[in-house]
Amino acid sequence: ASQFQLKQSNSFNVASITPFIYQPASYSDLHELAGVVNQPFYILGEGSNTLFVEDEAPVIIRPDFKGIDIEETGEAYLVRVGAAENWHQLVTFCIEQGIYGLENLALIPGSVGAAPIQNIGAYGVEFADYCHEVEWFEFNSQSVKKLSRAECKFGYRDSIFKRELYNQGLIISVSFMFPKAWQAKLSYHGLDSLPEKVSAMEVMEQVIAIRESKLPDPDVLPNAGSFFKNPVIAEDQYQILKQKYPDMPFYPQDNKSVKLAAGWLIEHAGLKGFCRNGAGVHDKQALVLVNKLAASGKDISALAKYVQTRVLEKFGIELLPEVRIIAAKGEVELEGVEQ
Ligand code: EPU
Repeated sequence: ASQFQLKQSNSFNVASITPFIYQPASYSDLHELAGVVNQPFYILGEGSNTLFVEDEAPVIIRPDFKGIDIEETGEAYLVRVGAAENWHQLVTFCIEQGIYGLENLALIPGSVGAAPIQNIGAYGVEFADYCHEVEWFEFNSQSVKKLSRAECKFGYRDSIFKRELYNQGLIISVSFMFPKAWQAKLSYHGLDSLPEKVSAMEVMEQVIAIRESKLPDPDVLPNAGSFFKNPVIAEDQYQILKQKYPDMPFYPQDNKSVKLAAGWLIEHAGLKGFCRNGAGVHDKQALVLVNKLAASGKDISALAKYVQTRVLEKFGIELLPEVRIIAAKGEVELEGVEQ
């Protein structure tokens, strides 16, 4: 059987071999997947949020649906985008066309089809804010469905695709609704210094400048952005921690909970810049783990577990990965990775 090396297909640049890569590009291709999804499989976009932790990977499905269609109404633009389009190229394309809204989400690596899965977000905007509909192929019924924004049940780095619909199908395309009435979203620290009359293009440029100053370029220093999610804890637990760490950043949430900055917790557990076996904690943003010196997936997962342990010991808070951890048998929990 043919085998495919995935080293160039994941932004951590770790080696792993899959028995086969399926690349559906049309509705008829999708029906061939029936015989594929009865074995361990993983749907891969551009591999910018994935860590392969074994020499072998499961069968890979890589959606290859392309194209951008724009419909204009009096009040809005409706933009339908194939899952395989590149996210940042979509953002720049929209801004250049005078279609505004995604500027705060510039320079996020990955494909458009991956965006709904974890509801990508940055600088005060998230995918859900402009999502109109997600086109979905359901493996079991072999049928195409459309999920409205509400049906996608978006949350912080969360959606129905990680829950009820997990591994039940794949995303073909995504439709956005961009109201023509546009206002810059400048609440996030770093954007709040921009003038109120700023253009979407200028917001995008500022977002790019902030990201480039903190986040390592995966082409230079392999990484998958934030490795962990920012933890959300109960208000009571936060009040106790606050006594001890009055400078700790915090973001109040609905229903008596508080989101903390995982990067701050990791830095204050003394791990910023820490490196072991070629895997490191980034020295400008501790939430990002980097592959410094040909680390393997196991080296990186070992570092991630170490970070988890140290943060738990120091703050009593459990960090959960944002990155998807993939073994030969499919997706696994970080805890379950054998070192
Ligand atoms: N901080 C530290 N030390 C660090 C890193 C951060 O003290 O090493 C502090 C910062 O000073 C700041 C706070 O933690 O007060 C938050 O940091 P930052 O603004 O850099 O954002 P973040 O919470 O670490 C999240 C997203 C990023 C997104 C930024 C901007 C998650 C898991 N990550 O990071 O998304 O770009 O906000 O909105 O929610 C990604 O998901 O891959 C990603 C890069």
